[in-house]
Order: sequence, then structure tokens, then C-alpha cells
Amino acid sequence: MAVPSDQFYHVPNSDLADAELAALGMCSYQTAYHMLTSANVQAGERVLVTGASGGVGTALVQLCRIIGAIPYALSQQEKAKSLLKLGAEAVLDRTDMNRFVDRLKAETGGKPLDAVMDLVGGAMTDHFIDAMIFDMNARSTYPRLSIAGASGGNISEILWTRIYLYQVQIFGVSHGTREEAGQLVSWIRRGDLKPVLHGAFRLSNLHRAETYFVNRGSDYLGKIVVVPDAQWQQHGQPFALETD
Ligand SMILES: NC(=O)c1ccc[n+]([C@@H]2O[C@H](COP(=O)([O-])OP(=O)(O)OC[C@H]3O[C@@H](n4cnc5c(N)ncnc54)[C@H](OP(=O)(O)O)[C@@H]3O)[C@@H](O)[C@H]2O)c1
Repeated sequence: MAVPSDQFYHVPNSDLADAELAALGMCSYQTAYHMLTSANVQAGERVLVTGASGGVGTALVQLCRIIGAIPYALSQQEKAKSLLKLGAEAVLDRTDMNRFVDRLKAETGGKPLDAVMDLVGGAMTDHFIDAMIFDMNARSTYPRLSIAGASGGNISEILWTRIYLYQVQIFGVSHGTREEAGQLVSWIRRGDLKPVLHGAFRLSNLHRAETYFVNRGSDYLGKIVVVPDAQWQQHGQPFALETD
């Protein structure tokens, strides 16, 4: 494949297999990193990551730790162990949003979130704003909400008064900058970013891979990689999800 040289990064002598490197796909990681830089997230800040087990969410959990921020994951109970291993400080169950703020306080020692990285949207976003503004005296910065996805729905009902009275800063994010891509690749080269590879499918089974992804179970975390058939034995087989 030919690509323009200024859009190409070489990761030589990596300890990672090619499928693992592919799972570090730049779309997820650049989006995740740009969500953090847009909201100016700093070391020591408490950050909620929604859709935490997905491609962008797992990137966010790792990137928070790299920059020294503290990621709280919103996900499902079945994924808690894997997300804690990946770097989450705590995992909150998204299937029960009642008393979300109280459950969060129990994890943060009563402190509000500094920022929210929202990939979910829908009916949940108002709860996320609550979790940043319940104690403004405990804050030294504005509450910040970065939005880059809508896995939970495209329409959110948010109380306008909460946004302007509490000066919530909202950032819409799509992809990232070239400089951020360069930074991400240097973290990959150093081994600071770890791939979250769920498994591999042959290219000729693309439809099966898509069906698997759409119907993914509650143990699913991270990315699926699709490998050309001619390279399957070397690059795909070690990570095969297929029975053949
Ligand atoms: N702005 C951009 O440039 C950009 C780039 C990439 C992706 N995106 C968008 O970002 C979002 C996430 O992308 P992704 O690649 O990480 O997707 P993904 O791998 O499919 O992950 C999405 C995650 O969201 C959670 N989720 C799914 N349905 C939900 C629901 N109804 N309510 C609450 N949580 C739900 C699940 O995580 P848990 O089970 O852990 O809760 C799921 O693993 C998508 O909306 C995608 O279109 C935007």
C-alpha cells in the first residue's frame, strides 16, 4: 500500500504483533486524546470515561493514566475486572443510573468530577453534568464536557440553567491534530500504550466479523482486527476468534 510519507509513522522492532499494532488504530486514539486536550485535562484530575469498554473508551482510560489523570469508567459490571486492569480507578455500572452521583461520590471520596469524556450521550448526559457541579466549592476549574460519540442516543435533554449558571464548558470533538498523532506514536513506540485486541477474523469472513461485533457479548472489550486471508496464518491465527 502506498501512503503519503507525511501521513506515515514507522514503529520499528515493536514487541507487538501486527494485529496488536492494528488494534492501536489512530481513529480511536486520536479522538480520545483530542477529547482530553480540548478539555485541558491535567494530571490529578478526576475524569469520567463513558462507553469505557469500546475502542475510544479503552484509549481514554489508558491515556488518562499516561497524562496522570484519574479515569472513572462507566460500563457494565461484567467488564469491571478488565477495565480495572486497564487502568480505571473504579467502574460504575451504566445499567443503573439511579443515584449515579451518590455512587460516584462513594468512589471519589465525595469530590466532584473535574471533566467528563462522553461517548454515550442520550439520556445519560444530564447525570454526567450533575456529577461535575454538585459541589462548586470543591472546584478550582470550570466543569468540562468533551463529546465525541452518541452510542446511547443522539438526543439529550439537558437543563440549560445548569450549563450557564455552573459555566459548564462543552467541547465537540472529531479526530485530532497531527502533533497529537505524533505524540501517540511515540507512546506506542515506548510501549506506554497497550493494544486492547479482542480477536481477529479473516477478511473473507468480514460479514461474520461485523455480525460478531454487532452482537458482541458482555465480555467484549476493545477492538476486532480483520486480516487478509493470505496473511492469516502468521498474523491472524494467533488471535483467532473463529472456530476454523
Ligand atoms: N468524533 C469522532 O471523531 C469519533 C471517532 C471514533 C468514534 N466516534 C464515536 O464514538 C462512539 C464510540 O466509538 P467506539 O469506536 O469506541 O465504539 P464501540 O467500540 O462500539 O464502543 C461503544 C461503547 O459504548 C457503550 N454503549 C453502547 N451502547 C450503549 C448504550 N445504549 N448506552 C450506554 N452505553 C452504550 C458500550 O460500552 P460499555 O459496555 O463499556 O458501556 C460500547 O462498548 C461512537 O458513537 C462513535 O461513532 C467518534
